[in-house]
Amino acid sequence: MQDLFLRQKNIDTLSQEEAKAEIQSLSNEINYHDNLYYGKSQPSVADSTYDELRIRLKKIEEKFPQFTLKNSPSFKVSGTISKGFKKVRHTIPMLSLDNAFSMEDMMEFYARIRRFLKLDESATIELVAEPKIDGLCASLHYENGFFVRGITRGNGQEGEDITANIKEISSIPKKLSGSFIPKNVEIRGEVYMTHVDFEKLNTLRQKKKETLFSNPRNAASGSLRQLDSFITKSRHLRFFAYTVLPDSTLRFKTYEKQRDWIRDAGFKTLPEHKKIISLEELDLYYKNLEIKRANLPFDIDGVVYKMNVLSLQERLGSSSRAPRWAIAQKFPAKKAVTILKDIKIQVGRTGVLTPVAHLKPITVGGVVVKRATLHNEDELQRKDIRPGDTVIIQRAGDVIPQVIEALKEHRPLTSLPFTFPKKCPACGSHVARKDGYAAWYCTGGLICPAQARERLCHFVSLGAFNIDGLGRKNIKMLFEKRYITAPQDIFTLQERNGIEFPLLEKNDGWGDLSVKNLFLAINKARTIVLSRFLFALGIPMIGKVTAKAIAEHTKSYEKFKIFTEKLRKKSSEAYEEFLSLDGIGLSVLDNLVDFITEPHNQEVLQALEKQVLIQDESINFHKANTPFTNKKIVFTGTLQHMTRQEAKQKAEAQGAKIQSSISAKTDYLIVGDKPGSKEKKAKMLNISILTEEKWLELLESSI
Ligand code: IVH
Repeated sequence: MQDLFLRQKNIDTLSQEEAKAEIQSLSNEINYHDNLYYGKSQPSVADSTYDELRIRLKKIEEKFPQFTLKNSPSFKVSGTISKGFKKVRHTIPMLSLDNAFSMEDMMEFYARIRRFLKLDESATIELVAEPKIDGLCASLHYENGFFVRGITRGNGQEGEDITANIKEISSIPKKLSGSFIPKNVEIRGEVYMTHVDFEKLNTLRQKKKETLFSNPRNAASGSLRQLDSFITKSRHLRFFAYTVLPDSTLRFKTYEKQRDWIRDAGFKTLPEHKKIISLEELDLYYKNLEIKRANLPFDIDGVVYKMNVLSLQERLGSSSRAPRWAIAQKFPAKKAVTILKDIKIQVGRTGVLTPVAHLKPITVGGVVVKRATLHNEDELQRKDIRPGDTVIIQRAGDVIPQVIEALKEHRPLTSLPFTFPKKCPACGSHVARKDGYAAWYCTGGLICPAQARERLCHFVSLGAFNIDGLGRKNIKMLFEKRYITAPQDIFTLQERNGIEFPLLEKNDGWGDLSVKNLFLAINKARTIVLSRFLFALGIPMIGKVTAKAIAEHTKSYEKFKIFTEKLRKKSSEAYEEFLSLDGIGLSVLDNLVDFITEPHNQEVLQALEKQVLIQDESINFHKANTPFTNKKIVFTGTLQHMTRQEAKQKAEAQGAKIQSSISAKTDYLIVGDKPGSKEKKAKMLNISILTEEKWLELLESSI
């Protein structure tokens, strides 16, 4: 790097030759550092020096654009993925946490652990308590001690590869230290932003007239999911590590020991942690942390309690959503007082009518709230909330703000109770209420424009077709103009543009570029995996998890169709098969059958088949590799090594389907002590019988 002298020269005084030479040398130098930093995780200069090089290069390029190199580092973003993030499947799903809101919920948590592990009342349950950081979790992979990959939580099964951005977080070691470093190790924790960094960022954005982030969590999330890792770097994110994934070479007795290893490896671990051995201690910890919360330099939204002994964590296992060995006790939500200007009825995609409070805008916990849900008619009447009332609203985490109560002493004398409409405000159809349900719903079904529009919004949403540029505002406009009235119209929009309707480009707020990008996004969405496709259809009660379960079971769209055809014909075999899926009950089945028998929906499906390619569902790696994957298993007798519940959970984790009784379709009967009549029936039907030990042995050898 020969031209130190030049580097010190004021840019305004550089000659043409000098500028040309310096552009070349700065570019070389930046590329050299990028290679060290991103390729080998061994930076040789301080971050600030590196930033100065980039800033100086940019300034000279601005003054002498004729010398800017075609492949200047100013165009490419160091170590970033330029076209969206690559999707990566998690080795072990990244689950959520169950929530507790009261001491009763915590007592139930203790009771559940006792029931599950068959512990009596006198047994001590050792928990570790720590703050619940209001950030976003990330999973970090290390190979031979070097950081190689960072992944967001995504949908829990699959996240986004944010390796380049993770490299910009200085509290994350790029090389692990400590005495024992396994060949492969995965560490999970929370990325967050401090209050100070958040304020600085928003002040800067205000100056640049950019939209402000509503809270540190959103700022952290927006900063981590930047395609330009140089931006991530400027946002000063931080990271607390809390878990090392179980690994055969790295075994700890307790969570506390695991934390010591994480700290020695070079990570920041959570402050304010404490071992808790009684409900009284737990209550005290929670109350203390709530007081300390205001003085912490970052946002926390509750306490997380985890079983300290890791073998017990393993025995407790997880449901499909959350581990049984941990729970989050949330702090009470943030509240504020404002005026309720009006109550409007919103019609959802399934026709449910929800009263929505339109409020005088108010900031609650850093977020401006303009609307809040009033849930349903019963709730509205019980609380007697009326337009014009002064109301208390509350926001808890990501939950939609709610109206808690009306301050009756401030009520205007002229106020009248709100009367719930007897007709749908969108289509005029009469409204009905199903037995046992609190919600009214519009009976207009497919003729109701509000339902049709909401279904479209759902169809293009994040977990479904995920079409950029088709947000609520654009769907509303395209739907009102009748350019898109059903999902399949989205995929013919481009060929109809300017033929069936005036060019989209000519509309207010649209331009050549935005329309071009919209068509690109639509075309990109023409390939979709089965589970997302099923979720996109918006079948009542078929959310992401259920759609995934159905897709993993049927694997391909063709097989899904054959399967649903059987369901339509009320084949009892298909019914039984369907009900054996995790988390699926009769009401899901009814909704699916109703949906597929409806002729209009069949029309939509047939039209979509011509437009999109529905990919087969790939099976979770962990579940696909064992002799029990997709096998039907029945347990009988008293098990010696675990409780029945634990056994079921273990088997399900390996992809087996648990049945309660023997049928000709059963693959294995696992027998404990005193098996009884099931064993006889299994012998008669020639079904494989395994002892508990043999079953465990086979499981162990296959993992
Ligand atoms: S442990 C299986 N510990 O909270 C999940 N999570 O609501 C184990 N979080 O997705 C997570 N602070 O992003 C754990 N001390 C903490 C946490 C924490 C924040 C987040 C995490 C998780 C979410 C669940």
